[in-house]
Amino acid sequence: MSLFVSFEGGEGSGKSTQAKLLRDRLSEAGHPVLLVHEPGTTPLGLYLRERLKRQTRQEDIISPSAELFLFAAARAELAAKVIKPFLARRGAVVLSDRYMDSTTAYQGHGRRIDLSKIQVVNELATQGTVPDLTFLLDLSPEDGLARIRAKLTLEQGKETAHQRQDREGMRRFEEETLAFHRRVRDGYLKLAQQEPVRWRLLDATRPVDDLAAVVWAEVEAHLRREPSGGEDVQPGLMPIGERPPDDAAKKTRKG
Ligand code: TYD
Repeated sequence: MSLFVSFEGGEGSGKSTQAKLLRDRLSEAGHPVLLVHEPGTTPLGLYLRERLKRQTRQEDIISPSAELFLFAAARAELAAKVIKPFLARRGAVVLSDRYMDSTTAYQGHGRRIDLSKIQVVNELATQGTVPDLTFLLDLSPEDGLARIRAKLTLEQGKETAHQRQDREGMRRFEEETLAFHRRVRDGYLKLAQQEPVRWRLLDATRPVDDLAAVVWAEVEAHLRREPSGGEDVQPGLMPIGERPPDDAAKKTRKG
């Protein structure tokens, strides 16, 4: 049996860290494992990533629907040429750092493109190559953006010119308004509610190792064909449909 796992979440939620830790653990356990990152990985994906980043001048800013198609084009190439063939191998596990749900959350809920149209585009791009399991690293945008800023200060001077260019280009999303990031977060939570069997909700404020242990337990259960099914919540997972208490309080305070 093969397994396709995606990691989703807002800026600074730590999904790339969890994806890498899971990749290492799976590979130590002897599974053929492939980690991909969206947008990127294929030559077309990397080309589109470069273009998406080059939006520093006003005239370079890509329109919302063109942006939707660029992410979809990168995904179509990745799904057909990389993910699907790899999953055909026995016992293979593909991990994707962002996938189709990023488009629903960012272009759909964030940029407010009609969700039924997003669904059609996602279906065209993935051609049925969809995750069996999706981890949502849920974090308030305030905390996520603060983490990114702290990380930047820490890493200042250590990154290569290319890494800096990549980071600065992708700031287009980080620099969106808080309202945009709140829509993205709420969009993710809605997606999890709609498909509780596929999604696992994680409180991204918890320590990295605790989160990695929960992720590993879920993935192992899937590999043994004993997924928790989303209804009986395993220790460490948040019940889907419930917002972490702190944020619920903050939201009420703000009205
Ligand atoms: P990236 O530098 O890869 O950051 P991250 O670590 O957050 O994945 O930037 C990817 C950005 O692209 C991120 O802000 C989310 C956005 N994005 C979309 O808007 N739609 C999509 O379909 C995907 C895959 C990403």
